Amino acid sequence: MTRTGVAVSHPCGALEGTTQAPGDKSVSHRALMLAGVAVGETRIEGLLEGEDVLATAAALRALGVEVERTGAGRWCVHGRGVGGLAEPEDVLDMGNSGTAARLLLGLLATHPLTATLTGDASLRSRPMRRVSEPLSRFGAAFHGRADGRLPLTVVGTGSAVPVRYELPVASAQVKSAVLLAGLNTPGETVVVEPSPTRDHTERMLRHFGACVQQEDGGLVRLTGEPELVARAISVPGDVSSAAFPLAAAAILEGSRVTVSGVGLNPGRIGFIETLREMGAGLVIANERAEGGEPVGDLTVTWSPLTAVDVPPERVPSMIDEFPVLAAVAAFAEGTTRMSGLAELRVKESDRLGAMAAGLAACGVKVRESADTLEVEGGQPKGGVEIASRLDHRIAMAFMVLGMGARDAVRIDDIAPVATSFPGFVESMNGLGAAIEA
Ligand code: S3P
Repeated sequence: MTRTGVAVSHPCGALEGTTQAPGDKSVSHRALMLAGVAVGETRIEGLLEGEDVLATAAALRALGVEVERTGAGRWCVHGRGVGGLAEPEDVLDMGNSGTAARLLLGLLATHPLTATLTGDASLRSRPMRRVSEPLSRFGAAFHGRADGRLPLTVVGTGSAVPVRYELPVASAQVKSAVLLAGLNTPGETVVVEPSPTRDHTERMLRHFGACVQQEDGGLVRLTGEPELVARAISVPGDVSSAAFPLAAAAILEGSRVTVSGVGLNPGRIGFIETLREMGAGLVIANERAEGGEPVGDLTVTWSPLTAVDVPPERVPSMIDEFPVLAAVAAFAEGTTRMSGLAELRVKESDRLGAMAAGLAACGVKVRESADTLEVEGGQPKGGVEIASRLDHRIAMAFMVLGMGARDAVRIDDIAPVATSFPGFVESMNGLGAAIEA
């Protein structure tokens, strides 16, 4: 159920039980998009039915792809083949989703069509040159606002030339946009990443039959113009969503919580590593592979937490988990230091600024610089209202903080939570939280 408006997260006792995280957001976007350019019928199960992914589904329909919901989390996509997308009749609204916008711009850049993308106030403020710049090298043109942000029109090319692109920032979204543009391009598209980021696109491209090679030195090679063949996809649970109940169990004395069926892509597990280093009892069971992605059941058993230094090289593997890590750090003994966080400033909100301000309002000592955050642990006072800033993860991080604070934490608007974790409040309350929404 989608909740809107204010929420109050009251202090509560130990959490107990087993839950499931909603489908992985990154994998869900990619499943729909690749199914849309594959030949035949792709059946997807476990798809995240959050607003971000629904925006991708709607955009694909507008591009001529048949996308049908056949049951809870079950979707069926009739693809149009590589290069087969049709020009949309209207502006494509990507809502709050940076992944949807950037990956779709990649696909569209090498189709001979014109499309305009927009989004909500958060998405319209996020940088898009990071994708339009490499995508222009394929031959696409981009017209938009002076600062390159959405609304943005892409005039795709029907005669793309392959590109070799060295990413200036470690971004799976930019890497994926370039690889998706490389699909309808003859020859070999090469991306070089400065440090490893999630490789869902590479794995799924291979699942659909493309030739993608990952080499030492962060080099990814895609052979263009493959015939992608429709294949069944099972979407694992989202580790970035699982992070919230696991974090809550880590801070609430006596807790024991299991989240089953969580995706454990090596490019996504930095938070698990960090929780372990802080002293949380964390066990991974039932490890298996599903649809080319590693999956397992995660259990956190409460144990006292100590502060850690999170190394900058770990940042890409937990890029979305810093809001909840900062909340956890507020309960650990000592000062947790996080560095290399510049990218957090350009997420759904300025997450570094949002966490520093929100934690300080809750009575936590914090120090913030352009790309670092230090959080002194103790027992947060709470008793304040936090602005979620159109950012689902800021809203959820402060609901987790409220569970362990002295006084309740109010969130001004939890509607953004529906982008990635529909049913968050019900799921947390089912484990013993006391969130009023
Ligand atoms: C994503 C990559 C990350 C992450 C985002 C989803 C993806 O962004 O923050 O929520 O699905 O590729 P960057 O790769 O731009 O850091």
